[in-house]
Amino acid sequence: MLVLGIETSCDETGVALYDGERGLLAHALHSQIALHAEYGGVVPELASRDHVRKLLPLIHQVLDDAGVASGDIGGVAYTAGPGLIGALLVGSALGRSLAWSWGVPAVGVHHMEGHLLAPMLEAEPPAFPFIALLVSGGHTLLVRVAGVGRYQILGESLDDAAGEAFDKTAKLLGLPYPGGPELARLAEQGDPARFRFPRPMTDRPGLDFSFSGLKTFALNTVREHGGDPQGRADIARAFQDAVVDTLAIKCRRALEQTGVPRLVVAGGVGANRALRERLRQVTDKLGGAVYYPRPEFCTDNGAMIAYAGACRLAAGVHEAPVIQARARWSLAELEAV
Ligand code: KG4
Ligand code: ZN
Repeated sequence: MLVLGIETSCDETGVALYDGERGLLAHALHSQIALHAEYGGVVPELASRDHVRKLLPLIHQVLDDAGVASGDIGGVAYTAGPGLIGALLVGSALGRSLAWSWGVPAVGVHHMEGHLLAPMLEAEPPAFPFIALLVSGGHTLLVRVAGVGRYQILGESLDDAAGEAFDKTAKLLGLPYPGGPELARLAEQGDPARFRFPRPMTDRPGLDFSFSGLKTFALNTVREHGGDPQGRADIARAFQDAVVDTLAIKCRRALEQTGVPRLVVAGGVGANRALRERLRQVTDKLGGAVYYPRPEFCTDNGAMIAYAGACRLAAGVHEAPVIQARARWSLAELEAV
């Protein structure tokens, strides 16, 4: 089945066409980074309006790129949550309406399911079961994935998400939005021996995370040593090392506890080079392997939504012709397919 995928949960408009037999046919992305940059973060109402402007032209573009007519599409998948409610409603309303007008089924996709299945789009996808580390701007989760919709949450952040901590610390360092990649770049010039930040919650059992204390630690260090460029680079390095170390310790623990050797890393922070290097060492040591989506599918995109939707539609899952969106939605509520 040829599936049109639509992602509009936050600040990227993503569209893709995925075919069950031929794979990914085309995808396109419009990033709103420039739009939100002057405000230092995502302005929800501006995000919604920009999705309205960009979504239909992107759908036309993707159909043209793939040489596909609307009559060839067998189903529509759109991100139904979690995310910014106004932004979600743009994709949900258009996706549901197109499906209705084309007379094909539609399915609302969980954004984090999209992220954790994104490595399945690669040439060598991981076999089930695998452990997924989901690290985005809004979530930090460790999940045991036994199949599509078969998710056991092993641990999660009790406060800030890893990406959120990157973004907030970047702001303290005076870096522009979105701060995560900027902080990572600055960290490359930092001295790893100058400061040592704590590794929160690693000294006790369990797989939950807490990143808000790191941000406070960063704030205090910036006040004392952030006056010069080298000081800021050293702080960026110490912060990144602490986050990477903490995530790596919990990943190793999850792999050891479950006996599952395959680790999938997804979500925007999964683009971080230091994290990738560290997790490769962890899985090498355990005789396992780590899987990533290609970098452009680490952050929000339409391809992961088209893929997750195609899995669900192929299993006969689809939705009534109603337009629904959820700003909050736990992964634990999903039904196995
Ligand atoms: O998955 P994503 O695109 O959007 C959400 O669903 O949240 O993740 C965005 C997050 C942001 O917090 C961003 O700063 C972070 O991922 N991020 C990074 C890097 N690239 C993106 N954090 C650290 N290092 C990076 N290279
Ligand atoms: Zn995301």
